[in-house]
Amino acid sequence: MEDPVVAKGFEYMYSLGIETSCDETSCAVVRDGDDILSNVVASQVDLHASYGGVVPEIASRAHIQKILPVLERALTDADVSLDKINALAVTLGPGLIGSLLVGVETAKALSFATGKPLMAINHIASHLYAPFLSDAQGRSRIEVMKAKPSGRSSEVSRPSSAHRSSSNSSSEFSRPGAQLRYPYLGLVVSGGHSSLVVVWEPLRYEVVGVTLDDAAGEAYDKVAKLLGLGYPGGPIIDHLAQEGDSAYVRFPRPRIRAKDLNLSFSGLKTAVMQYVRETGYERVLRDQTLIRHIVASFQAAVIDCLLTKAERALAAFHLDQLAIVGGVAANRNLRAKAWERLAGIRVIIPAPILCTDNAAMVAGLAMLHYRARNFASLTLNAQADYPLDS
Ligand code: KG4
Ligand code: ZN
Repeated sequence: MEDPVVAKGFEYMYSLGIETSCDETSCAVVRDGDDILSNVVASQVDLHASYGGVVPEIASRAHIQKILPVLERALTDADVSLDKINALAVTLGPGLIGSLLVGVETAKALSFATGKPLMAINHIASHLYAPFLSDAQGRSRIEVMKAKPSGRSSEVSRPSSAHRSSSNSSSEFSRPGAQLRYPYLGLVVSGGHSSLVVVWEPLRYEVVGVTLDDAAGEAYDKVAKLLGLGYPGGPIIDHLAQEGDSAYVRFPRPRIRAKDLNLSFSGLKTAVMQYVRETGYERVLRDQTLIRHIVASFQAAVIDCLLTKAERALAAFHLDQLAIVGGVAANRNLRAKAWERLAGIRVIIPAPILCTDNAAMVAGLAMLHYRARNFASLTLNAQADYPLDS
């Protein structure tokens, strides 16, 4: 098929991505499917923290307030005017319906007003695309080995500067030019999803394992809540676990011996709860050292489960590349262990800012949809459940 980008005679292809599936309002401009020109993320963490989790009504209201300023900022940061944009892309689902609606309606309005083509993006597929992104200078934003701590800003922030500040010694961590090729195994670990996906070729996904109950990020958030550590639990546990003894408690590794590729984290969360109950809730809460040991032990169990299943899937499908994506992929120990344990496998993990929800991955994936002419109509509706293979 004739390449539509070439056929249209674009010097560059600029795509604008919009992401509002959960509690981040994000817009980004990406050039030619991989160069991030801007990636603005307004996090709502502060609004939800006192509830210990995302409150859907608060999330959608905050998206409404933030979407236009974030959109304007993304265009300004990229120094690209709206008329230069060739494609508009928005996360259609899965996610919180009230949150998704804000992004989808904004994208439809933009498409209607400008006549530019609209692309509907699957949220999981966009996470799986994140390893392909790089910055405008052509340096890789992919960190292949150890990572610096991740962090979320409660303000509208420029990930480009966040990236710089979290990667002062980036040469130690990144391998410029490390590129992912098809096919690869994706380990998707986020707050809402944990799955193993074989990406056979652009836009062809095969889900080969899923969590049967809680997602990995959900388990982090619930354990943090149980221990009164705050929200979101992942980055907090990541930080505390650095000084904990991961062998202090031997928590169960659910389904690790099951031959299939499915995951389960609910039993692990219950085991942590039981341990705290038996030890004495008050005693645990008073003992910061014990808390560090508990979260380090919990984290070791999560990582063991994830990497064991990933190893099994790599062998089963004869793959030698693993991309770890989604919010939990920002976890320092997961990153370090994946690299250490999976010898002979190219383990590719996006920079932390590209692991958590962001619109650059949406704008980047738009390129593949543009090439495949997967254009959406203005009757498009947000879908809380939007299967990856649809
Ligand atoms: O991908 P994401 O931003 O949103 C969803 O699509 O769900 O993932 C959010 C999840 C939260 O559960 C959060 O606690 C977790 O990712 N997370 C982490 C870390 N940073 C974020 N989990 C472990 N370690 C981290 N450093
Ligand atoms: Zn996500």
